[in-house]
Amino acid sequence: MNHIRHVAIIMDGNGRWGIKHKKSRNLGHREGLKIVEQVIKTTIKNKIKFLTLYAFSTENWKRPKKEINFLFNLLENFLLNKITDLNKQNIKLKIIGKKNFSRKINNLLSVSEKKTMKNKRLQINLALNYGSKSELINAFKLIQKNKVKINEKNISKYLFTNNTPDPDLLIRTGNTKRLSNFLLWQIAYSEIFFEKKLWPDFKENDYNKILEKFKKIKRNYGNI
Ligand code: FPP
Repeated sequence: MNHIRHVAIIMDGNGRWGIKHKKSRNLGHREGLKIVEQVIKTTIKNKIKFLTLYAFSTENWKRPKKEINFLFNLLENFLLNKITDLNKQNIKLKIIGKKNFSRKINNLLSVSEKKTMKNKRLQINLALNYGSKSELINAFKLIQKNKVKINEKNISKYLFTNNTPDPDLLIRTGNTKRLSNFLLWQIAYSEIFFEKKLWPDFKENDYNKILEKFKKIKRNYGNI
């Protein structure tokens, strides 16, 4: 049975869910946040130590301003209301991506990270303004600046995900088979699960089924 240390998730399908239910895309995002909370609970139940969630990509800035504002309001309220609880549950929050938001959001993110930095039960890497290619470019620049060797260890060290083991599995909901500039270096040997359901329909049972399937996979890493 494979042990699971790190699950990464592309939470796709909120917009379509909102429209499908004859409501707005934003309603899909609101519903999606409930699933985030459920997935955190299930991740803890399964004793998994790292959970990386793709919440906003460098490409998502192309969306209408109204939707972007809605997403960041959702994030702000989530952190204001839940960070104390996350902290009590011994959960560490780490932002991966470039923090160049409004001063209010940047402060809130930094305060939330600082408050939870010593926690050990689960680390949540929240990918915000995240893009794998820009993360890699940033790492190469730091390697150059610090005059260290280009090798796997150093590249991993200068990524936002340093000190995080590579994901054992990557899940993408929403019936789309692409990686969308997410963790391209880190998922070199991850098992990938494409889930048909839209993110707001992804329930605890669906998540558990994937975890169970993963545990039974024979992982060869190039060997036989
Ligand atoms: C992708 O679905 C989802 C996003 C870009 C946002 C993800 C946000 C959440 C799950 C809720 C907020 C989370 C936090 C932590 C505040 P999409 O909108 O691209 O869906 P579509 O493919 O149907 O258009």
